[in-house]
Amino acid sequence: MMRKESQTRAPLLEALTDYLEDGVVRFHMPGHKGGRNLDPQVARLVGEQAFALDITGVEGMDDLHQPQGVLARAQELLAEAFGADYSYFLINGTSCGIQALLLTLCNPGDKIIVPRNMHKSMIAGVIFSGAHPLFVAPEVDASRGIALGVTPGRIQQVLDQHPDARGVLLINPTYYGTSSDLEGIGAVLAAYNVPLVLDEAHGPHFYFHPGFPRPGLAAGAAAVAQGMHKLLGGLTQSSVLHLKGEGLERERLEASLRLLQSTSASYLLLASLDGARRQMVLHGRQLLEETLARARWAREEINKIPGLSCLGKEEAGRPGFDDLDETKLTVTVKDLGLTGQQVELILRYQYNIQVELSDLFNILLMVTIGTTDRDIEKLLFALRDISNRRREFAGRGELLRRAEGLLEEPLIPELVLLPREAFFRPSRVVALEAAAGKISAEVVTAYPPGIPIVCPGEGLTPEIIDYLILIREAGLRISGPRDASLQTIRVL
Ligand SMILES: Cc1ncc(COP(=O)(O)O)c(C=O)c1O
Repeated sequence: MMRKESQTRAPLLEALTDYLEDGVVRFHMPGHKGGRNLDPQVARLVGEQAFALDITGVEGMDDLHQPQGVLARAQELLAEAFGADYSYFLINGTSCGIQALLLTLCNPGDKIIVPRNMHKSMIAGVIFSGAHPLFVAPEVDASRGIALGVTPGRIQQVLDQHPDARGVLLINPTYYGTSSDLEGIGAVLAAYNVPLVLDEAHGPHFYFHPGFPRPGLAAGAAAVAQGMHKLLGGLTQSSVLHLKGEGLERERLEASLRLLQSTSASYLLLASLDGARRQMVLHGRQLLEETLARARWAREEINKIPGLSCLGKEEAGRPGFDDLDETKLTVTVKDLGLTGQQVELILRYQYNIQVELSDLFNILLMVTIGTTDRDIEKLLFALRDISNRRREFAGRGELLRRAEGLLEEPLIPELVLLPREAFFRPSRVVALEAAAGKISAEVVTAYPPGIPIVCPGEGLTPEIIDYLILIREAGLRISGPRDASLQTIRVL
């Protein structure tokens, strides 16, 4: 019997070290041959070591598309670390994992249950696969203006009407760190024998400390795609995909990944994944303990600042919001009379602090294993100061009030054509007011609460057009369409 490799090893990092130390003469790609003749500014800024390590699948370094050597061993360690049966390195972001999941679950025309506030990578996956999306509306926290998770009851309703759905693909946790009742959802799905798969882009750290919401694989998910670069030590774009149980066809998943991933895998990205896995197994518990303590301290202090309130675990335990990742600090700033976007810019240009994102009512701050006490102190100083100085800034109270009135759940329009069919049809631009009765070629999402009002292939009824005009007049941020001012819209 083969001895299991120890989690203290990092097979890919070790192979890369050997390659460097051997001083191999490089007659292979990439063209810079380990960092020769670089633009001097690039060399200074990026560092020559990064170029020296920048190789792809040469002899002895395995092949991401058919792993049999160091990459296979590194992926086995990855699977063991997360409690998966099989795990895969992704070099095209979590997006590519989500798209591979959709290509695995769905043939053209197959039904898939997805949340209406899906990430744009899911829309792309729906277009690639030709799937028929069945949308489930997420719950909304109207006072903070954010979308939460979906409830077992809503999924049950869709499954009652469409028992032939091929799977349920949910976002868990959400960007804001809220998680859904996965056990309840799993119980509903068991009755229909439908697999649950997760966009767990924001949840890889859940596997290494019990203070986080339940990890997807432990709660019965058949597969999860995770952003190791978002929360842990992976370089940007480095992500992973895990598979557990029999819910998905492994061969089809691997074939889908071969379709979607670059043939020139970056070993810098892969090496960062190998190291991030080892770090979490060996030190994750301690690092995350410290991270949670910092986030809790920050939250407590932020809640003392007049005009600010931070989403907390005590608000969990309601539909669509079962638990919270406390390292995500969603700070609602609207009571300062300022928008989240304004506060983002003030923090950036007056205090040299960059948030993760802002929306109309909130800023989102991520506390991770890379955050220090000093960072939190600087943040608290800045937030206290902004609160004291709030009258110096041009308030947007009127916009905030108008937006509050628009937070009821938007109707989900009728899907006239599958998103894939809509994507390949000729389209043209018309004035928004002239689009009633036509079929949308674009996705239009308003923030808050970040739920698409219309998707490609959906019918633009007079009610939907009136709602879009209302959103436009209110001045909410629009994402998705070519014309973000919504004067025009692309229709089929
Ligand atoms: C919820 C969610 N899913 C998927 C993705 C896509 O991940 P990536 O940027 O790694 O492709 C993101 C990225 O922001 C995300 O927030």
